[in-house]
Amino acid sequence: MTEVHKILVLPGDGIGPEVVAVAQTVMVAAAARFGVALAIDSALVGGCAIDATGQALPAATLAKAKAARAVLLGAVGGPRWDDLPTLERPERGLLGLRSELELFANLRPALLFEPLAHASSLKAELVAGLDILIVRELTGGIYFGEPRGIEVVNNERRGFNTYVYSEHEIERIARVAFELARKRGGRLCSVDKANVLEVTQLWREVVTAVAPDYPEVALSHMYVDNAGMQLVREPKQFDVIVTGNMFGDILSDVAAMLTGSLGMLPSASLAADGTGLFEPVHGSAPDITGQDKANPLATILSVAMLFRYSLAAPAAAVAIESAVNQALAEGLRTTDIEPVESAADIQRVGTRAMGARVLEIMEAQDA
Ligand code: IPM
Ligand code: MG
Repeated sequence: MTEVHKILVLPGDGIGPEVVAVAQTVMVAAAARFGVALAIDSALVGGCAIDATGQALPAATLAKAKAARAVLLGAVGGPRWDDLPTLERPERGLLGLRSELELFANLRPALLFEPLAHASSLKAELVAGLDILIVRELTGGIYFGEPRGIEVVNNERRGFNTYVYSEHEIERIARVAFELARKRGGRLCSVDKANVLEVTQLWREVVTAVAPDYPEVALSHMYVDNAGMQLVREPKQFDVIVTGNMFGDILSDVAAMLTGSLGMLPSASLAADGTGLFEPVHGSAPDITGQDKANPLATILSVAMLFRYSLAAPAAAVAIESAVNQALAEGLRTTDIEPVESAADIQRVGTRAMGARVLEIMEAQDA
């Protein structure tokens, strides 16, 4: 009997439901074509969950997520919930999932699809062929460190967070990054701020200590400020980057923009056993919500990662990625990836039309 994989879909807020609806059709089609059996359920997370239940991560959602092999998430948050205290905001839903499911390894590929070389804010020759993978630690660091808060000291408020990493947290993310680097270009750059922060001195030491286990990978180290600069100066020098939670958050947005748009970037957040949460790197984009304008490709590419990393179905992943590439090559563009100068062969499309074309291309691959 074929194994049935439980998938939980969490559309979330803003453009989340629109892009997830489209990506889900792609997921279902790819599963059917490659003989992967899925049992798909859905639930609330983020602002919509706050409105319905008072909590960003309702217990029912967490229970379903824990039972699933993979979670496909859209986006959380929006202006409507911006005035809530930090620990009650929609983002807590996402952060809660990451930590409850122990999704410590966040993979954010920044891959330039050839037809989009001119959509980058950098010169086309600097980004042509770009293929970087950012491996971001996702369940520790300053995002989760205690103590944290805002307190009153000497009649004024003082805000504080704690930047903390234990050796085992650094070692496990380093090993994930070394493994991935070994299967790619064989180069790993660990990003820290070891000239200032003790926590990242430890980070550098632990990553260095792991390196001898991966003799085929060339390890280098870079301070985060320099890494930000190098990413926009000469991005192709990088293969795999490994870094902590907050630096990874920032550098992955920078890397995303190199590829033309945040609307193109998928991500995978993995636990040690291969269960994962897959989501676009972009946010809920309240300004274009409900207008059929959002680029669904980051979410569709997240579905590809879901097949590759949680379902061990790389052929389905490749089929999806090549369909996306073809749709772009045919000239289909959502507004975020439109070329500045209008080219004749460019066809402006909305969320649904982009998804429909990717689906058609995939069906034609069958023949
Ligand atoms: C991301 C986002 C999240 C983060 C927010 C929404 C909590 O920016 O996934 O990069 O900071 O991790
Ligand atoms: Mg971010």
